[in-house]
Amino acid sequence: MICVENISKSFNGRAVLRDVSLEMQEGETLAIIGRSGSGKSVLMKHAIGLLQPDKGRVLVDGIDIGRISYRELRTVRRQFGVLFQGGALFDSMSAFDNVAFPIRTFTDSTEQQVRDRVLRCLDLVNLSDVGTKRPSELSGGMIKRVALARAVALEPRYILYDEPTSGLDPHTSTTINNLIKGLADQLDVTSIVVTHDMRSVLSIAHRVAFIHRTRMHWVGDIDALHRSEDRTLRAFVKANEYAIGHPAQAYS
Ligand SMILES: Nc1ncnc2c1ncn2[C@@H]1O[C@H](COP(=O)(O)OP(=O)(O)O)[C@@H](O)[C@H]1O
Ligand SMILES: [Mg+2]
Repeated sequence: MICVENISKSFNGRAVLRDVSLEMQEGETLAIIGRSGSGKSVLMKHAIGLLQPDKGRVLVDGIDIGRISYRELRTVRRQFGVLFQGGALFDSMSAFDNVAFPIRTFTDSTEQQVRDRVLRCLDLVNLSDVGTKRPSELSGGMIKRVALARAVALEPRYILYDEPTSGLDPHTSTTINNLIKGLADQLDVTSIVVTHDMRSVLSIAHRVAFIHRTRMHWVGDIDALHRSEDRTLRAFVKANEYAIGHPAQAYS
């Protein structure tokens, strides 16, 4: 379980998060929502120790990740698969080598084991036949799927997704949402999805955490979200119901 406890974070004197707390429960899919620039990615980066809070702490399975050595942090991080915004594949590597990268870097698997694992992961995202292709030869949706295959390569317990559907058309977004749901079921992982796409939230999340004006404004399950009379939350949900991501970030 990941516990974010009362964290505050400022950049250059400007507060991005104030006194934010959040528990991510085992096996659930939690969506973190909020306007662009509201600190969703910053919060996610705290969960894996890529950023340190100014105040407060983050516990992963009871371990305060701000108080451990870099070596210990690496061990904690191995339990996380991360899908960064845009996919962040290595452009010079084939899809196969991108997925193989964490396995070759963090395990002492033989090449045969690497191969089996990579093919299994590509299969999980329904991409069995693109292994030799480079990112520049793939569509935006395929890049996300390769990145997804890479994120699950080390059999993580937690998968973090940063705007997994941004820049994708509605049809491709649906494919990605279904994959996220499928992976959550098949791999029995805890998933944290940062998004402002409410369609995505409603189709995949059990619980929702809404950041607004640097605070954790609202947390609840999907039923509570539908029933909520919180005006700020309702306005956000309505405004982002049909969001299909940022066209400016689209990949062709
Ligand atoms: N490493 C950083 N240095 C300075 N400012 C940052 C850094 N990371 C994020 N910010 C700022 O924090 C705010 C929240 O960013 P972010 O978490 O990326 O928003 P979003 O909710 O869109 O993911 C933004 O104003 C952003 O410019
Ligand atoms: Mg972001």
